[in-house]
Amino acid sequence: MSCFSCLSPRRSVVRRIDVENGKRSSSRHSADSSGSRKGKKDTHDNDSGKGKGAMNDNKGNDPKSSGARSFTFRELAAATRGFKEVNLLGEGGFGKVYKGRLETGQVVAIKQLNHDGLQGFQEFIVEVLMLSLLHHSNLVTLIGYCTDGDQRLLVYEFMPMGSLEDHLFGLQPEKEPLSWSSRIKIAVGAARGLEYLHCQANPPVIYRDLKSANILLDNDFNPKLSDFGLAKLGPVGDNTHVSTRVMGTYGYCAPEYAMSGKLTLKSDIYGFGVVLLELITGRRAIDCNKRQGEQNLVSWSRPFLKDRRKFVQLVDPSLQGRFPVRCLHHAVAITAMCLQEQPTFRPLISDIVVALEYLASQSYTSENSRVRDPSPQSPSQQGSNVSSRESDYRTSTTYE
Ligand SMILES: Nc1ncnc2c1ncn2[C@@H]1O[C@H](COP(=O)(O)OP(=O)(O)OP(=O)(O)O)[C@@H](O)[C@H]1O
Ligand SMILES: [Mg+2]
Repeated sequence: MSCFSCLSPRRSVVRRIDVENGKRSSSRHSADSSGSRKGKKDTHDNDSGKGKGAMNDNKGNDPKSSGARSFTFRELAAATRGFKEVNLLGEGGFGKVYKGRLETGQVVAIKQLNHDGLQGFQEFIVEVLMLSLLHHSNLVTLIGYCTDGDQRLLVYEFMPMGSLEDHLFGLQPEKEPLSWSSRIKIAVGAARGLEYLHCQANPPVIYRDLKSANILLDNDFNPKLSDFGLAKLGPVGDNTHVSTRVMGTYGYCAPEYAMSGKLTLKSDIYGFGVVLLELITGRRAIDCNKRQGEQNLVSWSRPFLKDRRKFVQLVDPSLQGRFPVRCLHHAVAITAMCLQEQPTFRPLISDIVVALEYLASQSYTSENSRVRDPSPQSPSQQGSNVSSRESDYRTSTTYE
């Protein structure tokens, strides 16, 4: 039964997609449904076309997506004008990310692996494998890769609005904050991306790196999940978990996974709960600039999550009370369920999608209702990291 039976029901049949051969099975999705075979691929499969056609006609799949292609290093150097600093979009653990323009005129983001360790090479292979087989409008599209010599680069569709993290914790105070409805829209899209991984991919895929930095935004604030280097093919057969080294990002990691290394689909649900909490509060999952007791968002929020009368005090002060209270209550309730210590009590992603879609339908109509005295003791009111702004951020990023 749905965890959110109070909210309107949606589709009940979710098709599964076989990661190994790309065929769809018409099995009905259920709480314990799982694939029966383990994917076995190497990085060269991505041009084979396997797994593409059959995936493209699914709901939410991007019909434009086709297999990733191989680029030469010279092509990518030309695309970024020699990896010019002015084209640098940012840098993560994997390496630097540049904006580039391919010969075809297509604008792309090019991620270059730094050579600091073996882990990056493994992540590169997993990223190419996963994104060559998985296609959905809420997953970033991998356009290609480069394996010239010891170079390892990934070429993605360019996401003009950057990451959700940039908007929630951005630094430009003159810009408009993300509205409530945009936040819910982003939550819905991210949940749909996760639903695709958990319920349509076969075997299911555990994303393992859900965080606001990995939710990229297009010009209309449609979100796409990125960074699949840590993703794992989920448990198959009677298994309920896969055992792994604990990887991921501190602050988003489910407690049972952090302690035992036992990874389940519910580990992703916990991470999703943390992202929801960031969307509601405008606070970072971990913020060392805050005082003791407020640095870990989940720990800080627990007392508020337990008491309906305190829900309003969680809300990002930069919203200035512009949010529908009823929707807030539902959103906080969903968040609290995702953050349950016991993984079995966390909801399925398909139920979360249904619940969030309902909230999205409500948010637009009542967004302008304003709450008085919304957040009397939320310290982020004084903090500097709640300057998230919904704006033309990055649209002005030039390519040179
Ligand atoms: N496809 C893309 N389009 C536009 N910007 C992107 C794209 N991919 C990444 N970026 C930007 O590049 C920067 C670095 O991203 P990257 O994924 O390498 O690191 P991260 O997710 O922030 O951290 P980490 O990978 O270490 O966990 C981010 O600011 C992100 O917004
Ligand atoms: Mg990332």
